[in-house]
Amino acid sequence: MELLNCELPPLQKLRSGKVREVFDLSVIGLSDQLLLVATDRISAFDSILPNAIPGKGTVLNQLSTFWFKKLSFIPNHLIETDITKYPAALMSYHEILQGRSMIVKKTEPLPLECVVRGYLAGSGWQEYQSQGTLSGMPLPEGLQQAERLDTPYFTPSTKAEEGHDEPMTWEECQQLLGKEMAEHVRTMSIALYKAGSRLALEQGIIIADTKFEFGILDDQVILIDECMTPDSSRFWPKDQYAIGGNPPSFDKQFVRDYLETSDWNKLPPAPVLPADIIAKTAQKYQEAFDRLVLY
Ligand SMILES: Nc1ncnc2c1ncn2[C@@H]1O[C@H](COP(=O)(O)OP(=O)(O)O)[C@@H](O)[C@H]1O
Ligand SMILES: [Mg+2]
Repeated sequence: MELLNCELPPLQKLRSGKVREVFDLSVIGLSDQLLLVATDRISAFDSILPNAIPGKGTVLNQLSTFWFKKLSFIPNHLIETDITKYPAALMSYHEILQGRSMIVKKTEPLPLECVVRGYLAGSGWQEYQSQGTLSGMPLPEGLQQAERLDTPYFTPSTKAEEGHDEPMTWEECQQLLGKEMAEHVRTMSIALYKAGSRLALEQGIIIADTKFEFGILDDQVILIDECMTPDSSRFWPKDQYAIGGNPPSFDKQFVRDYLETSDWNKLPPAPVLPADIIAKTAQKYQEAFDRLVLY
């Protein structure tokens, strides 16, 4: 079943993000829990496209679940993904929720995106080219596009409600969170990236960079949102990796290539994708899942 939007009355929808719908479970007596539903929406160039990518929500939800379990040395928000163990009040929604939802601990999200980069790509590459730095930290000269960094770098950014997230320096991050909290989220982010990217590499996927979110629950900081999916990360197929260019993205390359060659001006609304682009993209999401989870 394909899902673009969803309402689950009487649950209150707290937020509709680019991909996920977030429901509060207070009305069914679980005021400390949320229900996250991953839709099949896809975004590119900061616009949500009108098409669904069939199966995408399920892949994202199950990949995050996989990582939350594998990387549980850092506490995370996962409570339940098995719908047969969901509260009875959600029973009538089983068909929608099956495979694409999780019940999580409700937290107070920290106001930043904890980006970790193991390779020089995207906005990191752009900053390096113009200033020789990454998040304001100097890097060695002569690095090439897509080159592996000597160590993973923590390059946090703001969490913009609309449009682009802005990079912040380590000093700005410390001002925002306080020194101790900033160091804590940096340490956790790098540890998660190191463990996850090592595992992915064994399955032929380079996770060039990724973004984590953390939330506060009581006096603990826990990992929330999604974890190392193709949506929150740059996945590159290892067998096509080369420096000095922009390696093809594992998942959204067909979509981006198509949109780049269409006459769309990158302002909303985005155009409808052709059926073959949708099918190829769905297949890539599935392949990422198969390689990481089913090996
Ligand atoms: N455990 C949690 N507690 C509170 N908020 C959460 C939790 N997990 C995820 N969220 C929030 O839910 C939203 C998920 O929707 P998503 O589609 O990923 O949004 P976005 O467009 O901001 O990426 C995000 O705003 C995220 O911060
Ligand atoms: Mg998100």
